[in-house]
Amino acid sequence: MLSIAQPVLCQEEKEALSSVIDSGWLTMGERVVAFERAFAKLHGAEDAVAVNSCTAGLHLCLAALGIGPGDEVLVPSLTFVATANAVCYVGAIPVFVDIEAENLPHISLKDSQKKLTRQTRGVIVMHYGGYPVDMTSWRSFCDAYGLRLIEDAAHAPGLEQVGKLSDATAFSFFTNKNMTTAEGGMVMAAESKTLEKMRRLRSHAMTSSTLERHRGHASSYDVTMLGYNYRLDELRAAMGMVQLARLLEWNERRRQLSNFYRRLIYQSLPLVSVPFSGEKASAAHLQVVLLPRGADRARIMNGLQESGIQTSIHYPPIHCFSYYRSRFAEVGLPNTEEFFSKELTLPLHPLLSEDDCAFVVETLKKIL
Ligand SMILES: Cc1ncc(COP(=O)(O)O)c(C=O)c1O
Repeated sequence: MLSIAQPVLCQEEKEALSSVIDSGWLTMGERVVAFERAFAKLHGAEDAVAVNSCTAGLHLCLAALGIGPGDEVLVPSLTFVATANAVCYVGAIPVFVDIEAENLPHISLKDSQKKLTRQTRGVIVMHYGGYPVDMTSWRSFCDAYGLRLIEDAAHAPGLEQVGKLSDATAFSFFTNKNMTTAEGGMVMAAESKTLEKMRRLRSHAMTSSTLERHRGHASSYDVTMLGYNYRLDELRAAMGMVQLARLLEWNERRRQLSNFYRRLIYQSLPLVSVPFSGEKASAAHLQVVLLPRGADRARIMNGLQESGIQTSIHYPPIHCFSYYRSRFAEVGLPNTEEFFSKELTLPLHPLLSEDDCAFVVETLKKIL
């Protein structure tokens, strides 16, 4: 079976996990700190805060930036549901924005402009498929209207452009991501006071950690805010260190395979298009294609499945889910809905070969 995503796991991950077990200290400790510093360094940041998911990370970004009840936050609908859920967690209102265009399925600046109100406090941009949003334009937009800018970088760890111009950024290490700790995430922030607030909120806003108390550096603690348990553990941090060391190499391999797919599809499937045609930089998280209008996607997916090729759809738009429909029935996003109706995600991960990709394209061609 050619899967759409597959973690790369080796002996080193096993040894890293064993060494944590041998150490006897499992919860957040020195390995988490080392992982945070290494991750920050790779992204040109001073520091980062490890969390137990990107969803938790997005929640912390919004909370630490002071976004709360009644505030509106512009979000794409073409993203994983966590992007909008996090806005709801702080009592704010997600305002769904269309994508720019079929070839550029990022949150649209033009549509965002139309959706600004006096309550708008922030924007979450999402680097769809690992292709970076134009952060310079978004920074100018947010500065012009006094908005907070948050990056959902679940698809884009290791990408140079990410985490540089926003107020806060959240990453995911879920199993299908470019690097994994099984479950996990990381946040970064432009201002150290935002990052420190996120660090506090991550562990119930307690003034000392379990490790500090264990070592006798503190005997008790105070609780200064309403916080959460969003801690990462030492096992995941140890695994994260191993994965991080290979992230850039894997991203490069993903880019090679994605460019290979793009060339092959361009040559042999003229009715199928591949978004982001002019974009160079990418963490190549997803291999997204658009089927010809009216193609029977369910039949195509079944045909590929029968040939041992897994496919998926990224994403069913959030505003179309029952929960969000019940709250925001009036939302209509024509470009997002059209994109969703044609989208198909093909297998892409560093363990694939060019022959695997050629087999996928050949099989898709036969079925079409
Ligand atoms: C765009 C996007 N945002 C947020 C998330 C949530 O990540 P996590 O599973 O680490 O909470 C995901 C994960 O699938 C995602 O793809």
